[in-house]
Amino acid sequence: MKTSHFATLLFYLLTLSVPCYTDTNIQTSLQCSEADESALEMAFQTNLRNLFDSLVSNVPLQQGFYKTRTGKKSGRVYGLIQCRGDVSADHCSNCTKNSITVALEKCPKSKEVLVWFRWCFLRYSDSDFFGVMEQTSIVLTNDTDFDDPSVVSKGLDLMNGLTFSVQNQPLVFQTAELDVGPSGKRYGMVQCNRDISRSDCVKCLESQLGAFRMMVGTKRGWEVYGSSCFMWYHDYQFYFNISTIASAGVMRPSSHKGTAIGLIIAVIAFLMVL
Ligand SMILES: *[C@@H]1O[C@H](CO)[C@@H](O)[C@H](O)[C@H]1NC(C)=O
Ligand SMILES: *[C@@H]1O[C@H](CO)[C@@H](O)[C@H](O)[C@H]1NC(C)=O
Ligand SMILES: *[C@@H]1O[C@H](CO)[C@@H](O)[C@H](O)[C@H]1NC(C)=O
Repeated sequence: MKTSHFATLLFYLLTLSVPCYTDTNIQTSLQCSEADESALEMAFQTNLRNLFDSLVSNVPLQQGFYKTRTGKKSGRVYGLIQCRGDVSADHCSNCTKNSITVALEKCPKSKEVLVWFRWCFLRYSDSDFFGVMEQTSIVLTNDTDFDDPSVVSKGLDLMNGLTFSVQNQPLVFQTAELDVGPSGKRYGMVQCNRDISRSDCVKCLESQLGAFRMMVGTKRGWEVYGSSCFMWYHDYQFYFNISTIASAGVMRPSSHKGTAIGLIIAVIAFLMVL
């Protein structure tokens, strides 16, 4: 099956440096299906351009999620864009455009492409994937940044709590913070793509937490990027204040000087689990 590799749970352990208190948008991963010359045919290219135009113009109006399909039965393209729940409409639009640029540059002959940025996730395909929960996930963490052992189980409890409570949130997005006394605070955030069901959302997050528990459970910070759901955990507030966005409509973060979260994309380990 052409896309079977998308369905496997695979993860990279990357080195993540997180000493910064503001968030920046960076590309975190990319997956392209095998090069296929027929992707260059005019019908597919036309449908793809129409898809991109539609995603770019609609996603800021739809609270950060939009899915659509373009074209006739054969040569149809399905696509979705999911922005992180705390980013502004401006950042969401920009991230959408940046993802499209990456897809076109890096995977011009692919009919199925997944692009992960911190602030948005783009996926398109010539087959219908809407509503199908998949468990492909990539983990980013700092291999040596271990947390205080007394905090570890509290942090996992926080993330486990979010796994179950997020299904009741209108945008299937939720943040939470934990006060761990002298060790400071821990911040968690989870999100599901809005095309999957609420119960699949819980399954998706549970599966991520289960799969990566050993790897992330002892760390001060980590991020899991899936194709249906996402989890973030850090010892600083990496997300934007959501109430500000809601009240201002379009949020314009004021203090974005020196935003230099460096992600060292050193692949330490590559493991494949069915
Ligand atoms: C990982 O964490 C350790 C311990 O906090 C830190 O010294 C190191 O610089 C971090 N590595 C990267 C790449 O950020
Ligand atoms: C849009 O994204 C580009 C590329 O990441 C970035 O250089 C630019 O500053 C962003 N623009 C805004 C308005 O955020
Ligand atoms: C969010 O709001 C809190 C309380 O007003 C403030 O302390 C914090 O710095 C803000 N964080 C960001 C990332 O804007």
